[in-house]
Amino acid sequence: MAQASGWVAPAWADTLQNPLKGDAAATEAGKAIFSTICFVCHGNEGKGDGINAASLERKPANLTSAAVQRQSDGALFWKISKGNPPMLSFEQSLSETQRWQVINYVRKLGRAARATAGVGREVAAKGPARGADARGAAATPVVKTAASVPAAKAPPPLPPSPFAGITDGEQLFKSLCTSCHRIGQGVLIGPDLLNVRQRHPDEWLLKWIRSSQSMVKAGDTTAVRLFEQYNRQIMLDHQYLSDAQILAILDYIDETGQALAAASQAPANGQSPSQAAAYSQSFKALYQLVSGLSIIMLLIALNVLGISLLAYVWIRY
Ligand code: HEC
Ligand code: HEC
Repeated sequence: MAQASGWVAPAWADTLQNPLKGDAAATEAGKAIFSTICFVCHGNEGKGDGINAASLERKPANLTSAAVQRQSDGALFWKISKGNPPMLSFEQSLSETQRWQVINYVRKLGRAARATAGVGREVAAKGPARGADARGAAATPVVKTAASVPAAKAPPPLPPSPFAGITDGEQLFKSLCTSCHRIGQGVLIGPDLLNVRQRHPDEWLLKWIRSSQSMVKAGDTTAVRLFEQYNRQIMLDHQYLSDAQILAILDYIDETGQALAAASQAPANGQSPSQAAAYSQSFKALYQLVSGLSIIMLLIALNVLGISLLAYVWIRY
């Protein structure tokens, strides 16, 4: 059970103040982060029953439990920043503001769970003492909630996919992959995925994206090499994605790569080819307008000249 893993934040972390405490807009922003990144392990309601929970070596914490809710915002901030594999470190991939936002939302999930389960009374009675946390979970029987005990014995069946029916590669990529990968902007937690299809056949990619760890464990040479190269960091499983969904993600990666290549071939003055075309079009129009006008003006000038010549001759003779 995660709460019994003895993962304790250092005491100084308690002195970190949440600058967004009680800020409802920040809580909403935190919800968006939670439901794109954290829910895959911790579950939509934070109970530790996410879609990836079953495939992890250690159970994700039930974030609504008293053991977690009792900790200070500073301690949670420290844990979310540092990670403790398989809990990821979010120091690089989330800004400080985003980490505080998500903590606001973790508090909201805690309140929601207490409202339904009535655990709130016990938490309130114990108060927000971090000392109690540091002394360890053994001293706090509240930790053994009904929800987390059976989870440790038998992995729960996979919940229905929150992405069922979505075939937009961009949306899937942004929801599921951007916490660890970028396209053409360098390594984040995992490799830059630019041109990844030139590195692996689709067949391999389909298997890898569903469950990279199964391939590593089966001894696939490429998988083992990648896993070692990236410091044995665990890429999340995406068992619930269909072939069509994964291929849509790969298409989106291709398209992004092509767009980047097109942008870098643009003229040095920073114009994209289409912009340049638009400019030359309007220059042509302007040129035609100017030359048209000058012909008219020339005619007028000639006329004026003719009339004045006539007038001169008239007056003179
Ligand atoms: C890859 C799965 C995974 C993802 C994604 C993930 N976590 Fe975790 N998380 C875990 C696991 C596993 C633990 C338990 C670690 C331990 O106890 O050593 C954990 C522990 C935690 C804890 C500490 C709980 C405690 O017992 O004190 C917090 C807080 C937390 N996660 C918040 C988050 C937030 C917020 C996000 C999203 C920004 C997130 N996690 C994303 C797997 C994950
Ligand atoms: C929790 C972080 C994480 C998430 C989320 C994640 N990956 Fe990864 N990915 C990694 C890591 C880390 C590696 C490097 C190999 C390793 O350590 O296992 C990797 C490697 C890869 C590779 C091999 C790249 C190469 O250069 O050969 C592909 C392809 C890939 N991921 C695709 C995806 C796709 C598509 C998604 C979204 C559906 C995704 N990943 C989501 C962490 C992640």
